[in-house]
Amino acid sequence: MERGLSMELVRVTEAAGVAAARWMGRGLSNEADHAATEAMRMVFDTIPMRGTVVIGEGEMDEAPMLYIGEELGSDENGPEVDVAVDPLEGTSIVASGGWNALAVLAIADRGNLLHAPDMYMNKIAVGPEAVGKVHIDASVKENIEAVAKAKNKDIEDVVATVLNRPRHDKIIQEIREAGARIKLINDGDVAGALNTAFGETGVDILFGIGGAPEGVISAVGLKTLGGEIQGRLMPSNDEEIDRCKKMGIDVDKILYMNDFVKGDDAIFAATGVTDGELLRGVRFTGGYSETHSLVMRSKSGTVRFVEGRHSMKKKPLLVMQE
Ligand code: FBP
Repeated sequence: MERGLSMELVRVTEAAGVAAARWMGRGLSNEADHAATEAMRMVFDTIPMRGTVVIGEGEMDEAPMLYIGEELGSDENGPEVDVAVDPLEGTSIVASGGWNALAVLAIADRGNLLHAPDMYMNKIAVGPEAVGKVHIDASVKENIEAVAKAKNKDIEDVVATVLNRPRHDKIIQEIREAGARIKLINDGDVAGALNTAFGETGVDILFGIGGAPEGVISAVGLKTLGGEIQGRLMPSNDEEIDRCKKMGIDVDKILYMNDFVKGDDAIFAATGVTDGELLRGVRFTGGYSETHSLVMRSKSGTVRFVEGRHSMKKKPLLVMQE
């Protein structure tokens, strides 16, 4: 992959982020998602690569754009890559003007991203200090103690983040019993996972069940950051089990970093749609939109925060279309 591809890909998440942000607080999650998808699709076609969507908005018959198998990119001699997209990670967040919605994507050399089916996945994620110290099959208490030790903290200083869902009542109780603190999130476990690798977010570990596609995208981000995610698919019915079988995926297998993303070259890009611990949401300032993005490449280990100011007049794509 060309080095310049990282910066090109930020343009993709910026466009999706701005398009989605126009829908903030309007109670219309599908519309926000559609706007982000359309903008992302349009800009992808200007990027010099030969991409295939492996994680997208659904199968071809259920998603008009960015469906699994869709070809993306403008250069048939460009690098052949797998593409994972989540044009709007946190559709409900945008609908309510909440915290931590992202426009996000990840790419890796062809064949190197896990083709995760769209189902639930149990996950545990940590930043670099605690890599190799936690395990998805260990108890919540053991994992919290391991993180505290690795980060040289007291247990009561540790902050675990968990999606606020009834299915996590037991985990939440166990975190409390272990003596750690909790940051419950209403949505957006990609941000939750990434936050574990940035000290300033105050988050040390992510626990719980979220989307499998989000797990793969998080893994690409954590790879560059030197963090770790482990996961196990959680098919919830026979149809999902069959789907895994057809895809050749062992549902009992623990997925480690190398299962999520192989090789040493992968790129992660995200733009804040609404405010979060790591990225500011989009601001509209009379004719301009301002974006805050994160782009990282695992091969070089470079992590960049990118601020953008976009003229809405010169870039009509960034103006909401209703
Ligand atoms: P969407 O943007 O697709 O709504 O995903 C938001 C999200 O919170 C993810 O971050 C998370 O992995 C998943 O939904 C959790 O699923 P559920 O809302 O069904 O608990």
